[in-house]
Parts: sequence; structure tokens; C-alpha cells
Amino acid sequence: MSDGEKILKVAAMGDLHVREDNGSSYRELFGEISKEADVLVLAGDLTDLGKPKEAEILAQDLKACSIPVVGVLGNHDYECGAHEEVARILREAGMKVLDGQSVEIDGVGFVGVKGFAGGFGRRMLGFFGEPAMKQFVNETMNETLRLENAMRQVRAKRSVVVLHYAPVPDTIESEPLEIYPFLGSSRLAETIDRFKVNAIVHGHAHRGRFEGRTPGGQPVYNVAKHIEKPNGKPYAILEI
Ligand SMILES: [Fe+2]
Ligand SMILES: [Fe+2]
Repeated sequence: MSDGEKILKVAAMGDLHVREDNGSSYRELFGEISKEADVLVLAGDLTDLGKPKEAEILAQDLKACSIPVVGVLGNHDYECGAHEEVARILREAGMKVLDGQSVEIDGVGFVGVKGFAGGFGRRMLGFFGEPAMKQFVNETMNETLRLENAMRQVRAKRSVVVLHYAPVPDTIESEPLEIYPFLGSSRLAETIDRFKVNAIVHGHAHRGRFEGRTPGGQPVYNVAKHIEKPNGKPYAILEI
């Protein structure tokens, strides 16, 4: 909570999966969110296949958003190999696309990185065996290092970490156990727990649970649009 400072109302949602053909628009929802919150956080999988066309559709919808928008890309935004183009289109629409950086809005630092997979706790994938396995683990470790560097840059007293992949297993409960290792990594939570944050949001697990905690006790929220939130909306409202 704030130290006598104004509470920031953060709307958070992930996994919009905007497609070229589905005709449904986020325009109305973004308008509603702008009235309810001070900042909109988008937790990745903004497009369905990472097509620039899909990003352009979302960019058009974002015009209905009159509050600052900050977020990260998800694995789906990488599918076509055009993630840089997707990020550029969204940045041009005013969204602060974070990929190992932080940004301060009204006294709250937002730190964003996509994250990666690898599993949880003692069962997470270790740096062992074939080069391909080590490369996989390296990808996770690189993301955590980039997250750590971004967190070190935060000067604000309050902060929110924005990820696409889950840092804990609590918020992916109800997903099949077989795919847990592909939904996130404990290495993300280990990094975050070296700092004090107000909230961690992620998406990616469409069938998870809204609320969880890191091993250090910090609150984690799965804000994928499909997850049931306390307010009954596709987005969550967090008071930071
Ligand atoms: Fe997704
Ligand atoms: Fe995803």
C-alpha cells in the first residue's frame, strides 16, 4: 500500500489473443477500464499468432484507452518471428512494451519481462545433459537476469512486476500437471523475492487460479482474461 501517497488503481489482463478474423473488439472494454483504473497492464499473448496485422487491430482498439498502458509480450506474440514488429506497432499506439526494462507511472515502478518456462521448485529443469536442454535452461536464466537488472533500476517505493510466464505453481492450478513445466519457472520467483514488490501479474495459464504467493510471501495474480477474477470481469483491479 502507499505511504500516504495516492493509491494507484491498476487494471491487469493477459492473453487477449487478438486475431484477424474474430471480429470481437476490445474497444468497449478498454473504454470501461479507462473509467475504472489509472493504468492498464497487459500480461502478454496480446496477439494470437504474432502477426503484425493482429497487432494493428489491437493498436486501433487501444485508441479507446485513455490511461497509460504498459505490458509485455507473450509466447504467441513470437509465433511468426515478427515480435519486434508487433512491439513497434504497439509502442506507436502508445503502449509501453517492456522487455527487461522498467517504467515509473504516478510513483509506481512497473518492471516487465516475458519470462520463460522450465518448471517449479525442486522439479524444475536443471542445467544438465544435451546442449538443447542447456539452451532451454539458459533462456530461462537470461530472462531472470534481465528481470533482475530491470528491478535494480526501480527507484519508486512501490512496484509491480509484469510477466507472461508464471513465477509460481499456485496460479496455474487446474492446468494439466503434464504441462506445468511449460507454464513458468520458479527461477522468476527466486529473482523477484530478492526485492520487495507490491504485486506480480502474469498470464499464459488460461486455466489457472487468480491468486497465489511467491515462496517469500509476495502476492502473485494470474490475470489471463479467462481466469475468474474477484470483480467478475476479464481484467483484475489491483490497488497499489
Ligand atoms: Fe495465452
Ligand atoms: Fe502464452
